[in-house]
Amino acid sequence: MQASPDSSQSLALLEFLVDRIDVGVFAVDRSGAVALWNRFMAVHSGKSSADMLGQNLFTMFPELPRRWLEKKLESVFVLGNSAFTLWEQRPYLFRFPHNRPITGGIDAMRQNVTFLPLRVAGSEVSLVCGTVFDYTDTALVDGRRQEAIAALRGEKDAQAELIVKLEEAQNQLLQSEKMASIGQLAAGVAHEINNPVGFVSSNLGTLKTYCEQMLQLIAAYQAAETQISDLPMRATITDLKQALDLDFIREDLPLLISESAEGLLRVKTIVQNLKDFSHVDETEWQYADLNAGLDSTLNVVWNEVKYKATVEKNYGRLPLVECLASQLNQVFMNLIINAVQALDESKGMGTIKLSTGCQDEWVWVEVEDNGRGMSEEVQRRIFEPFFTTKPVGKGTGLGMSLSYNIVRKHNGRIEVCSLPGEWTRLRVWVTVDRRRVAET
Ligand SMILES: Nc1ncnc2c1ncn2[C@@H]1O[C@H](COP(=O)(O)OP(=O)(O)OP(=O)(O)O)[C@@H](O)[C@H]1O
Ligand SMILES: [Mg+2]
Repeated sequence: MQASPDSSQSLALLEFLVDRIDVGVFAVDRSGAVALWNRFMAVHSGKSSADMLGQNLFTMFPELPRRWLEKKLESVFVLGNSAFTLWEQRPYLFRFPHNRPITGGIDAMRQNVTFLPLRVAGSEVSLVCGTVFDYTDTALVDGRRQEAIAALRGEKDAQAELIVKLEEAQNQLLQSEKMASIGQLAAGVAHEINNPVGFVSSNLGTLKTYCEQMLQLIAAYQAAETQISDLPMRATITDLKQALDLDFIREDLPLLISESAEGLLRVKTIVQNLKDFSHVDETEWQYADLNAGLDSTLNVVWNEVKYKATVEKNYGRLPLVECLASQLNQVFMNLIINAVQALDESKGMGTIKLSTGCQDEWVWVEVEDNGRGMSEEVQRRIFEPFFTTKPVGKGTGLGMSLSYNIVRKHNGRIEVCSLPGEWTRLRVWVTVDRRRVAET
């Protein structure tokens, strides 16, 4: 700054400014002795310039981050470059109280501090001048901004959660629509297949009888063969017998027929499944004891279970449940068969736990196995018609979708819980009184 003709006035103005400006200004020499201490510093620290001038800064403010600040000051002295510290990284250098409301959660004045090299004589830096800017207001606003951002983020997360729920709901809707259309399709297919299967099966029975009769007749002819005196005719018959391999045909024919009958039986079972699936054969609603139903179902499938698993029962006392008993039994059967099929035979006998209980208007039946469990994907797709992880010919993938439909008709649900490689728990919930729940 150029001294004006009235330099004493300028100097006074300068001193006045430095002292009164609303920014902390101080200066220290290389030994840390204070050379300047303005009013801002005095007011906020409670130490006047008379207290501070000539004193060591660190002695007067033991709470200062000494090592850090000494390094900072030293670098300004040596390199002659300015340095600074921002409140975002280091909230404050001097622990000054602030006069803002405490609601912002701020404990002390936030400060940006700049360190400027001051060359009084020659080129050596003889003093470092520090300026302390009060950033408490900015910090308070920033705090509120952070809070607002956190609130927005929370809202966004809640929205994302909601979107997932919506997707789930939509999937469920799609699932039930799919079920309905597949049900119709299944009913149609079952109906169409039923007729040809009926007459093929009856024809096969007749064919079997005819074949047996023909074979009897051939045997009789064979016995009479030696009686034929016409040698060329006998030779023709013998050649024909060899060419056609009559002995093989005789052996193979009954096998072919019984295999075909077995195949037909399988087709019939599939048709039956499809019919059950589409509820073509509706039965009467009745009050039934589900514990008894579970027991009778276990009896039906006992042959499948007994060599592979021990069964543990833990039945609760249940009220009678208004239901389509045979259909619920079908559900229990599907669950038990799935449980058996999930067991790993190389690990020896498995365990299947059958439990029942009730809660308010609900009754539950649970089948648990310690088999291979299900991945998340299988758990998600378990109720999809024709979804199966079993080899071709072992599973049609209709068991659980069939069960889903039956249980839904009882205003119920099936809960799936599994730890892959460890266990699976499927719990069927149905309402005790379907009308009461349907009305509410
Ligand atoms: N207890 C269980 N443990 C492990 N996986 C299971 C269990 N129950 C069902 N699953 C899985 O769910 C799939 C679908 O079951 P679902 O009963 O619908 O068909 P499936 O058993 O494969 O064939 P189906 O029952 O028609 O013979 C199964 O293939 C299997 O992967
Ligand atoms: Mg099954």
